[in-house]
Amino acid sequence: MQIHPTVSGLRAALASAGRVAFAPTMGNLHEGHVSLMKAARQHGNVVVASIFVNRLQFGAGEDFDRYPRTFEADCERLAAAGVDHLFAPDEAELYPEPQSYLIQPSALHEQTLEGESRPGHFRGMATVVTKLFNIVQPQAALFGKKDYQQLMVIRNMVRQLALPIEIFGCDTVRADDGLALSSRNGYLSETERREAPRLYRELTRVAQAVREGARDFDLLEQAAISQLRDAGWKPDYVSVRRRSDLQEPEADEQALIVLAAARLGGTRLIDNLEI
Ligand code: PAF
Repeated sequence: MQIHPTVSGLRAALASAGRVAFAPTMGNLHEGHVSLMKAARQHGNVVVASIFVNRLQFGAGEDFDRYPRTFEADCERLAAAGVDHLFAPDEAELYPEPQSYLIQPSALHEQTLEGESRPGHFRGMATVVTKLFNIVQPQAALFGKKDYQQLMVIRNMVRQLALPIEIFGCDTVRADDGLALSSRNGYLSETERREAPRLYRELTRVAQAVREGARDFDLLEQAAISQLRDAGWKPDYVSVRRRSDLQEPEADEQALIVLAAARLGGTRLIDNLEI
């Protein structure tokens, strides 16, 4: 695997590359990322990953400073997963001047779920992803479904800006007890780690009830929120949504998803299940 800290170095290396499949990350990689890299191999003959902890997508008081940086271990994982090129710029390389041109996602996403809970997050994310797309110029790009709304924002952006990139969503990878793998799981204490799968269990319970015909989504959501609160969590939302645009569904809608975000101690976890 070749490691490129500069835009010019990466561009030179990819100058005569064939079909490029790209998976951007913020590092601290786990099996979920490895599965993205393996899927990337099926969508391109050159696989490119990036590691960049993007300050622009973190709000004030969020975990930008303590976000785990584990570059050596990440490189080993990426090389073992068959990645050909790693783009790993520092902030001065990616943002040589304050980034004043920003990509503004649709108001629908800015005001919905993660957009509402984390103001400015999607703008920062969409801006860096656009910039990375312009640098890497991939034909395919892969994102995990754990960040379901992020995937949806990126699909919208690619469609509206007519970017010539195919976007693929990859299934969430889970620990044996159901907890969705996430770099932020590393913040959990031992006790919190034992508690953390409750989020997945509550989502499973809601999804199962909907599959069995329950249609009072509000009641199901409130029951899940109460369970989480009783166990010491601080939920931001548990919400059944229409899968196509993450807006509130009509009672007869079929393609649904249940999404949740909740804080356990100092760690904010998100997860979702397609129904
Ligand atoms: O999902 C992530 O890790 C980040 O949001 C991404 C897509 C790499 C942009 O910084």
